Amino acid sequence: MLQCPSADCARCPRLVEFRAQNKTKFPQYHNGPVESFGGLNAEILVVGLAPGLNGANQTNRPFTNDYAGDILYPALKKYGFARGNYGKVKNDGFELINVRVSNAVRCVPPQNKVTADEIAACRPYLQAEIAAMPNLKVILSLGSVSHGAVLQALGYKKSAYKFAHGAKHQLERHNPVLLDSYHTSRYNINTGVLTAAMFDEIIARLQNLL
Ligand code: URA
Repeated sequence: MLQCPSADCARCPRLVEFRAQNKTKFPQYHNGPVESFGGLNAEILVVGLAPGLNGANQTNRPFTNDYAGDILYPALKKYGFARGNYGKVKNDGFELINVRVSNAVRCVPPQNKVTADEIAACRPYLQAEIAAMPNLKVILSLGSVSHGAVLQALGYKKSAYKFAHGAKHQLERHNPVLLDSYHTSRYNINTGVLTAAMFDEIIARLQNLL
């Protein structure tokens, strides 16, 4: 059975405190560790940073109702990695094809910023996720924090492979390749660091890596 954080996971004091505040402010939200989305038999694992407050933290599905999901999910669909309508809620019927989506940290952090301790505390869940995917061929890291978290989860130093948008890393001791992309965050899109066309190119490349 896949090891997942419990609904009341208490590994990160700061995130537990934020969760308590959010439960009062937004009682209708999920307000707990967000489950991964997609099948464990997928060949591709997309790893984001952490749930957004009004997005994944509300819906309990990564990137769902987050701005970053408005870039991620249409791109996956465009290249045949998803079907159905992305309706920004968990029960929209939207399905991933050969892709699973998870996060380096499962609970929403204040100001979308996670600490090194929180990445370390959530690491066993990312490790369990990777270990539970027998067909895994590509890990797509969205952003440098995810890149570092994935490397550390696999037992490498963060600096063992340098993050760069579009970089493909053949890891020394592991079969799945690590592909880097800038995160699909509102900030990156608004500042032009990442465009939808640039992200489409990354998703299109996934097909050739399988
Ligand atoms: N951003 C992420 O990195 N992950 C989510 O689940 C939502 C937004």
